[in-house]
Amino acid sequence: MQTILVTGGTGFIGSHTVLELVNSGFQVVVMDNLSNSKTASLLRVEELTGKKIPFHKVDLLDTQSLDKLFTDYDLDGVIHFAGLKAVGESVEKPLYYYKNNISGTVNLCEIMSKHGVKNIVFSSSATVYGDPEINPIPETAPVTAVNPYGRTKLTIEYILKELYESDHSWNVALLRYFNPVGAHESGLIGEDPTGTPNNLMPFVTQVAVGKLEKLRVFGSDYTTHDGTGVRDYIHVIDLAIGHIKALEKLNTNPGIVTYNLGTGKGSSVLDVITAFEKANDINIPYTIVDRRPGDAAVCYADPSKANKELNWAANRDLQTMCRDAWNWQTKNPKGYE
Ligand code: NAD
Ligand code: UFG
Repeated sequence: MQTILVTGGTGFIGSHTVLELVNSGFQVVVMDNLSNSKTASLLRVEELTGKKIPFHKVDLLDTQSLDKLFTDYDLDGVIHFAGLKAVGESVEKPLYYYKNNISGTVNLCEIMSKHGVKNIVFSSSATVYGDPEINPIPETAPVTAVNPYGRTKLTIEYILKELYESDHSWNVALLRYFNPVGAHESGLIGEDPTGTPNNLMPFVTQVAVGKLEKLRVFGSDYTTHDGTGVRDYIHVIDLAIGHIKALEKLNTNPGIVTYNLGTGKGSSVLDVITAFEKANDINIPYTIVDRRPGDAAVCYADPSKANKELNWAANRDLQTMCRDAWNWQTKNPKGYE
């Protein structure tokens, strides 16, 4: 049985992945500094799995505590979610993002190397494609950084590539996520953003629950089927399962691999509103406002490489994502509070 360290494991994607890992028979150790999450998510995962999951409040910048973790556990690999992810905040505080995300990852890799743990799955993002020239986007599309957050993701991709070039005993999976939404079908775990959400789906659910008055649709003059921005929304459980498949791939010693994790389907903002209304029989009041600066018109994945090489596909449809997001929100109107 393999033991996997999950950094950022109390967060949104991390908690769902821990659940899938435990259900797939992995031993899991979770570390997080709790800067953007609560241990309540892990207690819920324990409730769902009936298993105790070791948790350590550790910051990636605290190398001593990190080192101790690798001494205390016999680890086979790491799934590395820990990082800051708010685009706007990264523009205001670039150094904070570079230090936390980039230095944090360098620390992690140094300690992994010291302990001979050389399998890592990294949370990259479709943000590395910037404003893509072609859709669906293949992994071979040009990459760029359009804000400091995106630059941390791209830089970490390069760091991991160069690390592999220097030492071929590393196995690295760079997973480029599209737009993760939804929640586990139990409604026990889900996304719990701090303050007013920046992202579409949590904003929609907070409008639906009455916490926010109305959704602002950012732009209706894009060259898309209805003028609103198109994205590739992926159910967080499908995304979590992608990580299990990536770990299985690392067991075959593939060296460094890069995969898009998306559905391959683009949905507009209005498509999301319609799907949410239909799935949950609830009205979402909205108003059209100006475009949000920096937003791409269209961004959706060509996931065929992951479909083929990982034997993985994101099967849950947009209505299921909307149903599960709403189920989580209604059961937990204040998140994990
Ligand atoms: P999240 O904020 O819920 O989870 C990230 C976790 O990392 C949090 O629990 C936070 O407390 C922890 N963390 C941050 N800095 C840390 C540090 N220095 N030491 C220890 N823990 C630290 O975010 P999420 O949505 O679950 O995202 C997980 C990963 O996936 C992130 O790296 C994010 O950049 C990436 N990603 C997310 C999306 C998305 O839309 N949610 C899209 C693409 C990529
Ligand atoms: N949108 C609205 N109103 C809102 C919020 C969003 O109309 O209140 C629109 C946006 O303009 C966009 C779409 O909904 O067209 C999706 O926006 P999100 O903010 O949910 O997601 P983004 O695609 O902008 O960005 C997300 C993450 C990034 C990540 C990127 C690719 O926030 O960090 O996906 O993975 F880089």
